[in-house]
Amino acid sequence: MTHAMPHHADHTRGIHIHPSILSADFARLAEELARIGSADAVHVDVMDNHFVPNLTLGLPVVQAIRSATDLPLDIHLMIEDADRWAPEYAEAGAESVTFHAEASGAPIRLARELRARGAQAGMALKPATAVEPYLDMLTELDLLLLMTVEPGFGGQPFLEVVLPKIRRAREALDGSGTPVALQVDGGITADTILRAAEAGADVFVAGSAVYGADDPDAAIDGLRRAALG
Ligand code: DX5
Ligand code: ZN
Repeated sequence: MTHAMPHHADHTRGIHIHPSILSADFARLAEELARIGSADAVHVDVMDNHFVPNLTLGLPVVQAIRSATDLPLDIHLMIEDADRWAPEYAEAGAESVTFHAEASGAPIRLARELRARGAQAGMALKPATAVEPYLDMLTELDLLLLMTVEPGFGGQPFLEVVLPKIRRAREALDGSGTPVALQVDGGITADTILRAAEAGADVFVAGSAVYGADDPDAAIDGLRRAALG
């Protein structure tokens, strides 16, 4: 069964494009948000200079973004001690809050806290973190993020080595019947998105491919079409 999958997998199950504002102009965030009206959500990368070697923004800026857009907020926390800080992002009105499994001491408790605060619960795995230890807790999640670059910076090349993990996660999700979004983040471009879609991803984060373009909304449309093959 596995050999027949790649060419026949249904990669039209849903194509959701979440531009990452990491590649936007941070001095003009409201205007940058207005340039992605066709996005399904805006992806906000929170980095603490500990979990990753880069520092971006935190809760006050997320609150300001909340006031500046009606797009759903997809918060990606690349921070240590997620158990302590993640719930505040749910309270700030984010539609989804994604913490890293590597940074959570109690991921099931944390996922439940996020849901209790009205957000979708997301959990992220770095490229070299196996998904298998987490398969039994998929019912606790609304979103599983498989990083396709080492987290920390925009503009890095897509890591093909993650594709088999995306396929295994898709098989597990389909087998469990649990409606969990399968998100990929890092190196997603018009050239790589189809491979991620065929492997089973249905939510695509793109930073430089959207904000590096002259017309971000046109770039979003180009990604959608490329994902359909
Ligand atoms: C990287 C961030 C990504 C980043 C992706 O750690 O999590 O969201 O913005 O940027 P691109 O699409 O340029 O790889
Ligand atoms: Zn991200």
